[in-house]
Amino acid sequence: MRILVLGSGAREHAIITALLAEQAGHVITAAPGNAGIAADVETVSLDPTNGALVAEYAIENGIELVIVGPEAPLIAGVADPVRTRGIPVFGPSKAAAQLEGSKAFAKRIMAEAAVPTGRPVYAGTAEEAVAAIDELGAPYVVKADGLAAGKGVLVTEDRQAAIDHATYWLQHGHVVVEEFLDGEEVSLFFLSDGHDVRALSPAQDYKRLGDGDAGPNTGGMGAYSPLPWLADRWESERAFVDEVTDLVALPTVRRLEHEGTPFVGLLYCGLIVTEQGVRVIEFNARFGDPETQVVLPRLATPLSGLMLAAATGQLGGAPAPEFRDQAAVTVVLASEGYPENPQTGRPITGIDAANARDGVSVAHAATGVLDDQLVATGGRVLSVVATGSSFAEARERAYAGLGDITLEGGQFRTDIAAKVTR
Ligand code: AMP
Ligand code: GLY
Repeated sequence: MRILVLGSGAREHAIITALLAEQAGHVITAAPGNAGIAADVETVSLDPTNGALVAEYAIENGIELVIVGPEAPLIAGVADPVRTRGIPVFGPSKAAAQLEGSKAFAKRIMAEAAVPTGRPVYAGTAEEAVAAIDELGAPYVVKADGLAAGKGVLVTEDRQAAIDHATYWLQHGHVVVEEFLDGEEVSLFFLSDGHDVRALSPAQDYKRLGDGDAGPNTGGMGAYSPLPWLADRWESERAFVDEVTDLVALPTVRRLEHEGTPFVGLLYCGLIVTEQGVRVIEFNARFGDPETQVVLPRLATPLSGLMLAAATGQLGGAPAPEFRDQAAVTVVLASEGYPENPQTGRPITGIDAANARDGVSVAHAATGVLDDQLVATGGRVLSVVATGSSFAEARERAYAGLGDITLEGGQFRTDIAAKVTR
C-alpha cells in the first residue's frame, strides 16, 4: 500500500516501524517526519495541518491510506478534505476531533452516552471557578477547556494554586473544575470506523517529569504494556477490555455516529480505575505518545489492515487484534529544561549501539541533522523501546539502551515499569 503518515514524533516513528515490520512492501512517506523517520522512509516537507495541500499531495502521489498521527492537524481539520477527495484516512474529522479539542464537548458526549467520568463543573468567570473549586473540594482538579499542550491540567491540594490556575486559563476561555478520581491510570486505544471498534492492549503512561511522580506534568516520560495488575480485579485483560468497550468506547462512538459526526480513527480512552469502577479522565483523538511505542511492538495483527478497515468502514468484519505475550517498556529521553524551556541543538550519540541490542529499538521524536550531526530539536527527543519475555528483561534492556545514548543535560525517569518488575 502507498501510505502517507502525518506527524514527526516518536509515535509516528513507532507507527512506521510497525508498518515496515509487516514486510508487506508498503511504500511509506512521512510528512514532515524527523531524522530517525527519514532514515527509514521517504519524508516530505508538507505542512500536516494544511488539509488542501495534504489532499493534493495524496492525489498526485497515488496515496491509498493517510494516517494522521498528532492532534493538531486533526483539530485543524486535515482529515476532511482528504476524505472528501475519496482517499481513506485514519483520523477523525474536525467535528469528531472535538472529542479531544474541547473538554466541554467530550463531557457532553459522555453525559449523553452515559459514560462514567468525573463530575465536571464549568466556569466562565473567576467567581464561578472559586465556587466550583469550593463545591468539589480538595484535591482540586482544574482543566483548561481547549488544547493546552499538556499544561492545561492542574491537580493540587492547594486551593490558592487551583484558583490561580483557573484564573490564568480563564484568559484563554472556559475552565472545567472536576471531581478528583483516585486510582491507577490506564490508556486504552480503540480503532473505530465510526460504528464498530476494535481494542488494542492497555498501557500505562508516566505523565510526571520526575521519579516517584514528582515534578510537572509532561507529554509522557515512559510507558509499559500490558498491565499485569489488571488481573487483581478482572479475570483477564480481555474481560477488562470488554468492559471498557461496552461502558465507554462503543457508547461514545455510537453517540457521535448518531449526531452525524462519526469518529473514524483512534479513540484514546484515558481511564482511571477507581474503587467504584472505571472512569474516563480524557479522550484523545489519536494514538498516545509514548504508549504507542509499547503497544504496537506487541501487536501481531498487521496494523495497516486494521487501519484501512477503520478508514473504510469495514472494522465490523475485522478480527480482534492479537498481541504477543511479551512485556514492553519505553523510556523517554528529554532535553534539559523540558517541559518549560527545552535546550535544543545539542548532539546525540549512541543510538546505533542501542538499536543493536536484543529487543531494543529507538523511536525518534525531536531529532534533526545539523552539519552531519544528529541533534535534539525539541523537548522529548527520543523513546527507547524494549521488549522482553518479562518486565524485568524489557526494563533492563530499555535502560541498557538508554545507557548507550548521550545527550548533554538529557533527562529521563529511572523508575519506568519498576512497579511491575517486583
Ligand atoms: P489530562 O490532560 O486530562 O489527561 O490530565 C492530565 C493528568 O491529570 C492525568 O493523566 C491525570 O493524572 C490527572 N487528572 C486529570 N483529571 C483527573 C481527575 N479528575 N482526577 C485525578 N487526576 C486527574
Ligand atoms: N501520553 C499521553 C498522550 O499521548 O496524550
